[in-house]
Amino acid sequence: MNSGGGVWITLEGGDGSGKTTQSNLLAEWLEGAGRTVVRTREPGGSEVGQLIRDIVLHHRGDIAPRAEALLYAADRAHHVSTVVRPALERGEVVLQDRYLDSSVAYQGAGRVLDGDEIRDLSLWAAEGALPDLTVLLDLSPEAARVRLDSADKPFDRLEAEKNDFHARVRDGYLGLAAAEPERFLVLDAAAAPDVIAAQIRERVTALLG
Ligand code: TYD
Repeated sequence: MNSGGGVWITLEGGDGSGKTTQSNLLAEWLEGAGRTVVRTREPGGSEVGQLIRDIVLHHRGDIAPRAEALLYAADRAHHVSTVVRPALERGEVVLQDRYLDSSVAYQGAGRVLDGDEIRDLSLWAAEGALPDLTVLLDLSPEAARVRLDSADKPFDRLEAEKNDFHARVRDGYLGLAAAEPERFLVLDAAAAPDVIAAQIRERVTALLG
């Protein structure tokens, strides 16, 4: 999606795959190169989204899988319409933690809803908007668990899921990347952060032209 000359980059990967570190490094580099960067995330990249984020991550007790999928889609609809599109139209770089691939991987592969239906739902919510580049930080669930355990903060609803859930999420992501190789850059998240950052910068340089 490149209407106003802006560039839209999303970061994907399991919990503990290092998205925040890479997002920080990339934002710093882009700003150093003189680009205006809008950093945002799903769920919770807008005011309405913050309310939805609180429900999906912190509600005590079950949320029916389809309700969970719709909550993420509602967050997405509002976020794309009020934050992402306007920034792209201003010609800015949108650097976003998670987008619709998270829904297909977590609500589709993870919760065993139909992945194509989840993707269609998200595309409807976002009026078909797709990023210019999606960086997938790929990590085994076992390695991710070690990182999350050492981070010393309480797990949210999805982080608390068992390893087989996270294994399905990972397979879901890899399937998405294989289906759209031109949009995805898949990197080994077990590599050193500066090595990963350099690989991302190379691809973003090509994208910025
Ligand atoms: P995240 O913001 O990465 O959490 P944290 O603040 O702990 O880094 O993501 C929140 C959780 O929401 C994460 O476990 C993945 C999940 N998620 C979905 O299940 N579906 C979605 O569509 C999105 C965007 C996130």
